Amino acid sequence: MCTTLSPIMFTDRLVIRSYCLGDENWYYKMSLRNHAHLERYEPENPARAIKTQEDAKKMIANFVDDWQKGHHHFMGVFLKEPEQFVAQIYIGLVNRNVNEFGIGYFSDVEHEGKGYVTEAVRTVVKTLFESLHAHRIRIETDDTNLRSIRVAERCGFMKEGHIRENKKSPDGTYSGTLYYGLLRSEFQSR
Ligand SMILES: CC(C)(COP(=O)(O)OP(=O)(O)OC[C@H]1O[C@@H](n2cnc3c(N)ncnc32)[C@H](O)[C@@H]1OP(=O)(O)O)[C@@H](O)C(=O)NCCC(=O)NCCS
Repeated sequence: MCTTLSPIMFTDRLVIRSYCLGDENWYYKMSLRNHAHLERYEPENPARAIKTQEDAKKMIANFVDDWQKGHHHFMGVFLKEPEQFVAQIYIGLVNRNVNEFGIGYFSDVEHEGKGYVTEAVRTVVKTLFESLHAHRIRIETDDTNLRSIRVAERCGFMKEGHIRENKKSPDGTYSGTLYYGLLRSEFQSR
């Protein structure tokens, strides 16, 4: 990244922070709780690979290492009061030439439908444009993932592309991929 992403951000209700050594115990429980929740739209999410406490410890160590190297940025989203994990946000530089970032997210299964993901994404977007001078940000989502589509649209992203029926579910149904983008100029003109 061209400058360093802040390891902690605040919103009205939330603290968004990078992971640190010591997070493994609750992260292990969280990953088990969300295994089925992530199956349909995030089958490759790292949290789904966790089977043991030791896996969780290695995962957190990887997150810390990735953060320090500036490769991938996984952040936990926590409710301030009572302090508890409600979502995860992923931020990555996808095109250095135009300073384009990609954002990914999931809500904790017990905290879906409360606006936490939208609140966190809005703050991350503001930080990327204002502190890291992003030129554009993208969100990629399955075209049947209506909750994710609503997050992208509430945060002001424009639908830029639609690849139809490029994925097949285990039940034999097809779905496509939607590409959403937000330009720096659009963010600034609001
Ligand atoms: C996609 C996903 C992250 C969306 O999560 P979400 O909880 O719907 O998103 P938010 O936290 O922003 O909550 C928004 C909802 O909370 C509601 N809400 C309730 N109280 C609210 C409040 N105080 N403030 C704002 N919104 C509130 C909103 O009306 C909205 O509901 P709606 O979409 O039915 O209109 C979630 O469904 C998920 O994790 N899915 C599995 C993994 C996944 O699909 N990841 C995305 C891959 S691209």
